[in-house]
Amino acid sequence: MKLAVVGATGLVGTEILNVLQERDFAFDELIPVASARSAGKTLEFKNKKYTIVTPEEAIKLRPDVAIFSAGGGTSLEYAPKFAEVGTTVIDNSSAWRMDPTKKLVVPEINAHTLTAEDKIIANPNCSTIQMVVVLNPLHLKYGIKRVIASTYQSVTGSGKQAVDQLMDERNGKTPENPAYPHPIDLNILPHIDVFQENGYTKEEMKMIRETNKIMGDDSIKVTATTVRVPVVGGHAESLNIEFENEFELPEVREILASAPNVVLQDNPAENVYPMPIWSHKKDDTFVGRLRRDETQPKTLNAWVVADNLRKGAATNAVQIAEYLKENNLI
Ligand code: A2P
Repeated sequence: MKLAVVGATGLVGTEILNVLQERDFAFDELIPVASARSAGKTLEFKNKKYTIVTPEEAIKLRPDVAIFSAGGGTSLEYAPKFAEVGTTVIDNSSAWRMDPTKKLVVPEINAHTLTAEDKIIANPNCSTIQMVVVLNPLHLKYGIKRVIASTYQSVTGSGKQAVDQLMDERNGKTPENPAYPHPIDLNILPHIDVFQENGYTKEEMKMIRETNKIMGDDSIKVTATTVRVPVVGGHAESLNIEFENEFELPEVREILASAPNVVLQDNPAENVYPMPIWSHKKDDTFVGRLRRDETQPKTLNAWVVADNLRKGAATNAVQIAEYLKENNLI
């Protein structure tokens, strides 16, 4: 099996390589792919050096699988070209997510819908993934009517340029090439991705639409405010979840404690609750601060944290590749 990682030099690409190594994903040949700027340079994986190639060179090598994380433009241009030579593409960008002919997959929820015919598979938005792994088991039990999501998102979600901006500002240096229109250190920006005509940002609209598509239920109403904070370890979210049916908190705790790849961290008496510092480099999604919304019936408040480069991107993509392999779909 030949595996290409497109965007191998980026933040998510690097994390994909880490996750492949940690989870011991078995393959015969690694093809690291990046832009012409990086082509010819080498990259180390499992103590072996690999030469970085351009997407055009990688297509000629006909990889079996290609995990893309090189921006929407690169995905739009190259994913179909890889698919044409028989490669199964798992794409981290937003380019294909809402295409009705493409599956949008969070393995814990809908990997069973995948077939060998799916040649471009979309990996959802980071904030959406960590939200739906918590929502889905609760939806199956109580039925979700409406969710109000407010996010606190790490700068790693905007790539290296953003991490450099934060660190430069923190070290008193003027960033050469800032990722954001305002300072991010000692500040927060209620602005992630571009503003849309309806006043929401594209990130907010991704959380809304992708949730319906992944959970296969357009009746779930979602509204979101997405916010960038000067944090690097992971994204945090406050979720206000209104159910169709009544719930009991102990049962909610049981459901979440046994949900796949979800970890319950909910012990306020000992100051235990999910935090980006603890989620950093972990593959799980952490949930806590579970409490009843006392202003209306059948409504729960929850706090959810995950490493956006892991479950929000690299881990979810590698899990999709694992599923395809285990089920002989590649
Ligand atoms: P490069 O390092 O050569 O620019 P990040 O989001 O962390 O900045 O990473 C973006 C990733 O996408 C990098 O690996 C980058 O490679 C890669 N990339 C950007 N443009 C292209 C392109 N046109 N073809 C292939 N890879 C690209």
